[in-house]
Amino acid sequence: MKLLVTGGAGYIGSITTQLLLDEGHEVVVFDNLELGHREAVDSRASFLAGDLRERESIHDAMMSVQPDAVMHFAAYALVGESMEDPMLYFHNNVVGGIYLVEAMSAVGVQKIIFSSTCATYGAPDVIPMTEETPQNPTNPYGESKLMLEKILLWARDRHNLEPVFLRYFNAAGATEAFGEDHHPETHLIPLVLSVALGKRGKIMIFGDDYDTPDGSCIRDYIHIVDLAQAHIQAVTKGGAGAFNLGNGMGYSVKEVIDVAREVTGHPIPAEVAPRRPGDPARLVAAADKARNELGWKPAYPELRTIIEHAWKWHQAHPDGYEGK
Ligand SMILES: NC(=O)c1ccc[n+]([C@@H]2O[C@H](COP(=O)([O-])OP(=O)(O)OC[C@H]3O[C@@H](n4cnc5c(N)ncnc54)[C@H](O)[C@@H]3O)[C@@H](O)[C@H]2O)c1
Repeated sequence: MKLLVTGGAGYIGSITTQLLLDEGHEVVVFDNLELGHREAVDSRASFLAGDLRERESIHDAMMSVQPDAVMHFAAYALVGESMEDPMLYFHNNVVGGIYLVEAMSAVGVQKIIFSSTCATYGAPDVIPMTEETPQNPTNPYGESKLMLEKILLWARDRHNLEPVFLRYFNAAGATEAFGEDHHPETHLIPLVLSVALGKRGKIMIFGDDYDTPDGSCIRDYIHIVDLAQAHIQAVTKGGAGAFNLGNGMGYSVKEVIDVAREVTGHPIPAEVAPRRPGDPARLVAAADKARNELGWKPAYPELRTIIEHAWKWHQAHPDGYEGK
């Protein structure tokens, strides 16, 4: 298949691109490089520099590429920043998404795999979370993703689009070639590993008085290769609707730090700080639907493997892609 991958210079898009190419697909990456890295784009892919918020830019790209399907990763994804500046998020994630949908309709491209998130569920009462868990986002980031899901449903009904929503939990890990290099970094595993690399003095644990066995928050970590594989299965097997992507196993912040200590051999000093507003105690996926309908089976469900692979990449790239 020929895929147009928006945000393909970012963390998840770059590794999905790599796996798509490994499986013989053709990939054109569309990215403005605001948050991504040109070095993260596999040399076998074509690259188009462009911004989704510029209608002509994405329209021209769609016209020239004429892809069989779109994978849409490009977005802003920082919860805290979205609380500070909601319109920034609605503009990029929603308006940019509308221009993408318009370009697809104009060119007659139907299939879109959309990077959605467990943040669309908010703070659910019942764990694990299924695709039927009510979607009540608690921040503009999650809201912007839910809005685009809804827009895509209308585009399905009115413009024959075939959207698939992949609601990711916490992506982590790396391949040999590509890894996680966000600026700023807000994700736990790369932050913990940056302490082990000596780039940070300690890791902060935000709250140790939650209703969890060790008092720290529990999250569901999914290996980036498994996440990428789910996209390939969704696009090639004709999946439809929404799919949670997680391992169904939760690990606490303290457990992540402990495993990282074992993997790196570094003491990784930690300090407990007050809770962050809006952080739910537990977010764990029920991903049975992806397993049953897409035939998806995570190859690397173990937290230790996820951290080992991330550590290998960070050791090889201590300053990230560009030493920024
Ligand atoms: N990382 C996670 O754990 C996680 C969890 C749930 C959902 N997601 C979603 O997955 C997607 C990818 O996440 P990531 O961690 O790879 O993010 P990332 O920031 O590494 O990558 C996003 C890419 O999109 C590009 N981009 C952003 N706005 C653009 C625009 N207007 N035009 C063109 N390019 C633009 C950036 O330059 C960057 O390369 C996002 O949509 C995010 O919301 C990520």
